Amino acid sequence: MKIDPWGASQYQDYARLRDEFGIDPFTDDLVEGLPDPHPLLKRGVIFGHRGFGLIRDAIRGGDPWGLMTGLMPSGQMHFGHKMLIDQVIYYQRKCGADVTIGVADFEAYATRGLTLEKAREVAIEEYVKTYLALGLSPENGQVYFQTKRARVKDLAYEAGLKVTLSEMRAIYGFEDSTNLAHINAPLIQAGDILHIQNAESGGPRPTLVPVGVDQDPHLRLTRGIAQSLRLYSVKRTEDGRSGVFLKTGERHKDQEKALLDAAEAVLTKLGFADLERNDAYRAIYIKGASKDDILDIDVALAKTEPRRGGHGFIQPSATYHRFQTGLDGGKMSSSRPNSAIFLEDDLKAAKKKMGSAKTGGRASVEEQRRLGANADECTVYEMFLYHLMDDDKELIDTYRRCKSGDLLCGECKSRGQDLIELKLGDLQERKKGVSDDEVKAVLRED
Ligand code: TRP
Repeated sequence: MKIDPWGASQYQDYARLRDEFGIDPFTDDLVEGLPDPHPLLKRGVIFGHRGFGLIRDAIRGGDPWGLMTGLMPSGQMHFGHKMLIDQVIYYQRKCGADVTIGVADFEAYATRGLTLEKAREVAIEEYVKTYLALGLSPENGQVYFQTKRARVKDLAYEAGLKVTLSEMRAIYGFEDSTNLAHINAPLIQAGDILHIQNAESGGPRPTLVPVGVDQDPHLRLTRGIAQSLRLYSVKRTEDGRSGVFLKTGERHKDQEKALLDAAEAVLTKLGFADLERNDAYRAIYIKGASKDDILDIDVALAKTEPRRGGHGFIQPSATYHRFQTGLDGGKMSSSRPNSAIFLEDDLKAAKKKMGSAKTGGRASVEEQRRLGANADECTVYEMFLYHLMDDDKELIDTYRRCKSGDLLCGECKSRGQDLIELKLGDLQERKKGVSDDEVKAVLRED
């Protein structure tokens, strides 16, 4: 039998989900060459992606790239939420990402009935301070509010030009009774994701949105919108020819020749010699362009678009992480206090939750010694895997000893409690030390 400490019982379901929605598997080659890869990337917690190759290449090449994510300011922050910000900080600190975090106060207002004041308070006290305590740097990182950022709202409006009601229905299953503010929320999120490629936010560049897989519909929508808002489309046609195609509407009609000229110059500069230009078809065909070439050409052309009145949005990339199981074996959720350890839980309560967490243990000690336990269905092991054990060797060892019956659940839980005390204690101390000035430095009021 192959020992796979990163595997989990739910993996089958994630694989099915991935295949069904056309999410690509997050394979080892994507992690290769990343500096000191974060455990979540190596341990199979990040299980799928769209377009992460662009991000890997930007990191390897030391090129600028942006990370964008949003936070839903409702409820208390628990370990399941921490996973996301751990990734964000890794990319910011080690991989050269500039980081933009949007507080989804519009969305919370429209879909959860929160007031904007409450959303702001929760965002700052629960989330932003924790992010800073965990190591988010204000230097190339910022947090803003959806309701305050005009560029996001403008883009949401423009994105609306490219989406029909029936598409929205097909993606989200909206009903006749769904209110329009709710229907608008995904467009606002598209505005969030795309606005970091505006000139004032650094211009077109690869961007990554790390999220839980529940957010994939928004990513599919946004990637489509990004493409629709482009002046150029670079693709392989159905008859197998690669090319650059103008997709300008009325607004850019008088520029078509200039746009084709510019594209031709870019292609020549990139070293593509075998070109066939067809102005009537508004196309330049490129012989011998591979899939990777197409991506490179697309990025190069995107960067020229802002000068010509376009946005040049490069399709945002995304990674998807698995959801952590609740400590009671159900869903980890703020609304069920025993399912999660909250980052503000006092240490005694946190350790108690760890002590009564659901494990993969057997009915009796004798049986467990004989048959071994099931680490794949153990929420304590999941805490080790996602958060508590930095050392891969210790993790593998724990997994093996559990499976062989050498390790009993009591011993494991007590190790978990020690680690919780250490890590959560440390985080809580640091959070207390976060000053108002640090909060101010990272918050943007526009
Ligand atoms: N919809 C997200 C959630 O429910 C929050 C969000 C808003 C978001 N804007 C975003 C996430 C942009 C990623 C990128 O948690």
